[in-house]
Amino acid sequence: MTAPATSGLSSKTNKAFLSVLDGQQLKTPPIWLMRQAGRYLPEYRELRATAKNFLDFCYSPALAAEATLQPIRRFGFDAAILFSDILVIPDALGQTVTFEAGEGPRLNPLTSVEDIERLPELSLGRLSAVFETIDRVKPRLAPQTAFIGFCGAPWTVASYMIAGRGTPDQAPARLFAYRNPAAFQLLIDKLVDASIAYLSEQIRTGVEAVQIFDSWAGILPPSEFQRWSLAPIARIISGVRTSHPAARIIAFPRGATTHLPNFIRQTGAQAIGLDTAVDPNWAVNAIPEQVVVQGHLDPLALLAGGRAQTEAVDALLTAYRGRRHIFNLGHGILPETPIDHVAALVDQVRSFEG
Ligand code: CP3
Repeated sequence: MTAPATSGLSSKTNKAFLSVLDGQQLKTPPIWLMRQAGRYLPEYRELRATAKNFLDFCYSPALAAEATLQPIRRFGFDAAILFSDILVIPDALGQTVTFEAGEGPRLNPLTSVEDIERLPELSLGRLSAVFETIDRVKPRLAPQTAFIGFCGAPWTVASYMIAGRGTPDQAPARLFAYRNPAAFQLLIDKLVDASIAYLSEQIRTGVEAVQIFDSWAGILPPSEFQRWSLAPIARIISGVRTSHPAARIIAFPRGATTHLPNFIRQTGAQAIGLDTAVDPNWAVNAIPEQVVVQGHLDPLALLAGGRAQTEAVDALLTAYRGRRHIFNLGHGILPETPIDHVAALVDQVRSFEG
């Protein structure tokens, strides 16, 4: 299958974010922020109030397109990220997903092998609103702004599907996987297939890079990390590249720490999202030079602002001088973050000429 002309994978680009992913090293790193569309923005809160609930918001192309563009208009980030959520996949697989104000996601938990066997193959038609959002955003982006799609990694998505909610340690999913490894493997396999289909369709519709969020990778002991985080992500990357050999893929295995070098080797991701706890002075030696490093300012340093922020930003810029680096946070931006701190961050990164 070849990508049609509308796909965003053309190799010639004036977009700083894409040039870095394609192998260039720029003096000033491009910048975007995980969860850059969200509650810290007054215009987001206003828009969000017009939707019945969060999933409705995600499935309203006009609203989701507007939410995607808001942070670009305000801060001029180098990349827009599709506004949606990782939990649209369980929803599209027929699981009931709701978001309670202030409490996070609620799903009717999968509790048995039969619950998992019953999950259908992903029908892309159920996610047509997401692809329509991509269609609406594409023509509204300035020529220098890249467009990122995403999905959750199988382990992180499965952990919500089993627990039915966020938990501090994902104990329900880890226990389920120890007790029913074959059933859990089936769930992961279904999510691998769904993720390949979903990301491939996002790319076909026009996103220029994709990020795989494994927010809960770091809670797993080594052999479970290998089996439930690394191996499924490796399969997704090779599956997406089967239909889109030039796909630009960023993996974000949050908390992977000492597993990172092996993770990079085995998954073949060309870019790695690092989290807050990683020491950049370790990363410059441990991560192969051709791999793009993305990250990893502490979201709390950005919330605090002032000297804590400028010093932390400077430490990252300095550590990655001479490397292919995309500036980002080590995890999502916090809703309490003052917007002038974000503006100051963008100014500081843009005025750096490594
Ligand atoms: O980065 C972006 O701006 C794009 C949109 C995006 C959202 N969620 C919007 C969102 C992305 C990429 C995500 C990813 C996501 N969703 C992850 C992985 C990244 C991470 O932060 O760890 C996870 C684990 C989820 C699941 C999820 N969605 C949770 C746990 C919550 C509740 C917590 C919270 O912040 O309220 C959500 C809701 C959610 N997803 C919001 C947004 C803007 C807030 C909902 C609201 O507006 O009320």
